[in-house]
Amino acid sequence: MTLSIFADGVENPANIARIADVARLLGATRAASIEGYLIAIENVAGARDIYGRAPLRDDATIAVGNERRGLSPRTLALAAETLEIPTQSRTVTTLNVAAAAAVAGWYVLHGSARQLQTARPDSRRPSLLLIGRDHVEVGSSLRSAAALGFRDVLLEDRGAGWFEGSAARRREARAAARRHKNPLRIHRASVDDLERFEEVVVVLPSGPANPLQREALTRGQRQVIVVGSEPADLIHVKHGRVKTATLDLKMFEDPPLRFLASIVLAEIARQVGRRRRIAGKPAVRAPRYEFAVRLAAAGDILFVDPSRLLDY
Ligand SMILES: C[S@@+](CC[C@H](N)C(=O)[O-])C[C@H]1O[C@@H](n2cnc3c(N)ncnc32)[C@H](O)[C@@H]1O
Repeated sequence: MTLSIFADGVENPANIARIADVARLLGATRAASIEGYLIAIENVAGARDIYGRAPLRDDATIAVGNERRGLSPRTLALAAETLEIPTQSRTVTTLNVAAAAAVAGWYVLHGSARQLQTARPDSRRPSLLLIGRDHVEVGSSLRSAAALGFRDVLLEDRGAGWFEGSAARRREARAAARRHKNPLRIHRASVDDLERFEEVVVVLPSGPANPLQREALTRGQRQVIVVGSEPADLIHVKHGRVKTATLDLKMFEDPPLRFLASIVLAEIARQVGRRRRIAGKPAVRAPRYEFAVRLAAAGDILFVDPSRLLDY
């Protein structure tokens, strides 16, 4: 069984380089063209959830698309299946393309149970501490956090420049986070804050530990999930409260934070679940207005031909 990743019209060279990193981390290959069984990864109508599939048994290629346009219609038409990473934000509805490739590739390889449907997912959502050294990796991880339903993230900024970097670094980090539409609250924190939590789950990229899917990530705010730490970080945390979980990725020196964080966030989102509509409760509340708009007197109304608006 081999997995290949096809980048369909991805333009940004940094994203292309990161997709090559995803392939190495997953033990996959980069495909220059579409071959064999094709799985399109795209948030389009009719796509199935990435969750709830059996682990991959035969060869397959996953295709991810252009940063703005997504996958080409041709690739979508050729695909045997189309899978979507279900997002839970009105404003941040996509992940960075390389982060999406990592999440999709990881779930296609490992398989998983379906995403839970529940009345109160937020009460089950654990805290998340990200430890970042690179500003774009931190920004991209924060984009995934918002897209996957988080409202708060703890960040230990080890020179990533989120809180205190140069203006240029902060701008790049914020662009990667889609900050103009990302409502996430980012709290300055450090590994010293881990003392406050009853349970600490440290996620490792590889090595012997409980597989992430088997670790319960649903203990609410008394549990914290740590991504991006180094072994020396946890010396001071009392032993009985720390667990380790592994993503089972291939060995890779300093794996990019966005991949680890995005897979962990997607797995938390799967376990925590998404809101089930409660029977009898209206889905959308009727709007309330402070005051009604009065129609102006007939002489004050200016009728505009909509085509004129194109001049502006
Ligand atoms: C940033 S997206 C842009 C295109 C996207 N269709 C949009 O709505 O803007 C770039 C690529 O990342 C992948 N991607 C990002 N978020 C995704 C999601 N939630 N589900 C599936 N694929 C996603 C897809 O392959 C997509 O073509």
